[in-house]
Amino acid sequence: MKKVKLGVLVSGRGSNLQAIIDNIERGRLPAEIAVVISDQHDAYALERARKHNISAIHMSATGFKRKRDEYDAFLVTELQKNNVELVCLAGFMRIITPTLIKAFPNRILNIHPALLPAFPGLHVQKAALDHGVKFSGCTVHFVDEGMDTGPIIIQAVVPILDNDTEDSLSERILKQEHKIYSRAIHLYAEGKLKIVGKRVLVTDGKTIADEFLLNP
Ligand code: GRF
Repeated sequence: MKKVKLGVLVSGRGSNLQAIIDNIERGRLPAEIAVVISDQHDAYALERARKHNISAIHMSATGFKRKRDEYDAFLVTELQKNNVELVCLAGFMRIITPTLIKAFPNRILNIHPALLPAFPGLHVQKAALDHGVKFSGCTVHFVDEGMDTGPIIIQAVVPILDNDTEDSLSERILKQEHKIYSRAIHLYAEGKLKIVGKRVLVTDGKTIADEFLLNP
């Protein structure tokens, strides 16, 4: 199967990036990371990439404060130079502009640590605990021009326990993030994702039919 060339955008520790690298190296994901780009010079994600001989670029966003689209134009140039087909946002703490979205139509993915459309934005585990929901989880979606609003590809559900804290819940959700991001990329690589309106239909997807989860 043809390998899909990825460009991964990061800002921080890069555990999702690491999970993708590990799956590729274990032969479980038909992909290749062409470039990793961070807006933060001290993002541990850059170090993770370099340890695996992946090209890792830091580009500061200072100086682009009022010109976010110029920063995104830089990203587009770098991604295109590296022949990137699919852009993966993995803890990239910037709102991206139409400049990037138009250059990669339906070819940008994001991972979010909640069951969208509930709890978009930041500090979402705290929001889920404060709200008292019984399940949270994570979502991989295509990126559109809204904030965490694009068509949903895959979600993992994580029950919320009575003694959960923001940290314990984040940790359990993160474990699932590491699984579903690679799975979404795999489905993309196989050409199995079809966007119909807001829905993403997955050909030969193993959807769970007529099952439910209870908590408690
Ligand atoms: C993850 O929780 C992801 O869902 C969110 O940012 C965090 C990034 O973590 N978008 P990491 O840098 O991949 O460890």
